[in-house]
Amino acid sequence: MGLLSSLFESKNKEPYDLSDIAVDMHSHLIPGIDDGAQSMDHSVGMILRFKDLGYRKLITTPHIMSDYYKNTPEIINNGLCDLREELDKLGVDLEIQAAAEYYTDEFFIDKIEEGNLLTFGKNNVLFEFSFSAKPRLVNEAIFAMKNNGYQPVLAHFERYSFYLDNGEKAIEDLKNRGVHIQMNLNSLTGHYGKPIKKQAEMLVDNQFVDYVGSDCHRIEHLDLLESNLSNPYFHKLANLDLKNRNL
Ligand SMILES: [Fe+2]
Repeated sequence: MGLLSSLFESKNKEPYDLSDIAVDMHSHLIPGIDDGAQSMDHSVGMILRFKDLGYRKLITTPHIMSDYYKNTPEIINNGLCDLREELDKLGVDLEIQAAAEYYTDEFFIDKIEEGNLLTFGKNNVLFEFSFSAKPRLVNEAIFAMKNNGYQPVLAHFERYSFYLDNGEKAIEDLKNRGVHIQMNLNSLTGHYGKPIKKQAEMLVDNQFVDYVGSDCHRIEHLDLLESNLSNPYFHKLANLDLKNRNL
């Protein structure tokens, strides 16, 4: 083994330091309003862990999905207030904000037109699709967001089954439409399966990733992340121009 490659090998034995990402912008930490944290204790446990891992700010994104999670800006902001109060009481010093993860359906288009979406950073809107079937409203939703002054950020691109065979082409089309791309960190660990891991590696190798997120629903997601940080693909994140760092 040559000197350079042995240096490379030894460097990659170190766990990647998540303080390089600094801000997490996709998680489900508000207790009891979606399939994420189910109690204040769970929520605080996860937040303490994010802090240990080196994050300086969390933007949590409860689901807004018409049939399953009928969350409103009011419900989410009230939950955020309670959570901040609890963190204050416990003396936990970590900035926490809330936006949402919008599910793409006709109700979402109505919400965009109403103009009252929960955003992060400068007008960014995190939105997702069904995992198995491409929604027919993709382009309408993207157009409506752009038209109303929002910056669309597609959640976990690598997880959609209908993009697995045509990832690069799909990314090109989405980027041409002005969409920013978010990747889940745990996709690199194999948590969602091999094809999704491969798609995530494709995103990293081509520098297609605008944001990375934990998509943390439970503490096990952070356990898994922490135990995989020596994976070379995490080290590659240091060379990406991630927008997380400017949030
Ligand atoms: Fe999510």
